[in-house]
Amino acid sequence: MGNAVEVSNVSMRFNMSKDKVDSIKEYMIRLVKRQLFFEEFWALKEVSFSVEKGDVFGIVGLNGSGKSTLLKTISGILKPTEGRVYTEGVISPMIELGAGFDTDLTARENVFLNGSVLGFSRAQMKEKFDEIVEFAELQEFVDVAVKNFSSGMVARLAFSIATVIKPDILIVDEILAVGDFLFQQKCEQRIQELMSGGTTVLIVSHSIEQIERLCHRVLWLEHGRMRMLGDTQEVCGLYKQATRDG
Ligand SMILES: Nc1ncnc2c1ncn2[C@@H]1O[C@H](COP(=O)(O)OP(=O)(O)O)[C@@H](O)[C@H]1O
Ligand SMILES: [Mg+2]
Repeated sequence: MGNAVEVSNVSMRFNMSKDKVDSIKEYMIRLVKRQLFFEEFWALKEVSFSVEKGDVFGIVGLNGSGKSTLLKTISGILKPTEGRVYTEGVISPMIELGAGFDTDLTARENVFLNGSVLGFSRAQMKEKFDEIVEFAELQEFVDVAVKNFSSGMVARLAFSIATVIKPDILIVDEILAVGDFLFQQKCEQRIQELMSGGTTVLIVSHSIEQIERLCHRVLWLEHGRMRMLGDTQEVCGLYKQATRDG
């Protein structure tokens, strides 16, 4: 089958200012005097794994362990400081809720805006429009500005757009936690449909049960490093044990 995603030795460094500087002027003075000190912070360190086409791959770990950073390097939003990421096909990245939306615009306008960001023409999105709105259950709200939507409504619209285009790789970061239970079930069903159509899915979720239901393989990140990579039951079992014991 081949791999849809290959992550080789990826490390990501963020530079954080170590000392507090009160003004731009002081910052500039220190900059020319070379008195600014940065603390190197590695959000990811030597992460390697690959995901086979059509697989559903889960990433677990505590807050701040580097899950979103990893998904951003895979989607091409961030370039890793070290290492290499390879992906094949169209990626639909749902990483920050509503990031692709202009909230002053209506849901209808945002469908076309988001479509164009993902590389789809107006005509192509027009064809999919009814299906998107129906799946998101927003028929009565298509001409309402997105800023008036609840976070659940935004998540429904984002997920509906991201999946109706049938991407080769779907990336879902915590989005499924926002909607209500019925919608979560619909999303899981749609992920399974995409999967049988050959889409590769990468999921980060607070719900370990959801990861266990959907994923074939799981990576456990701890302080940006790989703690464990393997079969879902095995990794989730140990992860639950470790987080329960504190
Ligand atoms: N742009 C950034 N600049 C500096 N630090 C960042 C940036 N993005 C994330 N971080 C830090 O990297 C670490 C990992 O963050 P993140 O990938 O969002 O973790 P997670 O999604 O697992 O909660 C955190 O300590 C976070 O504060
Ligand atoms: Mg995150």
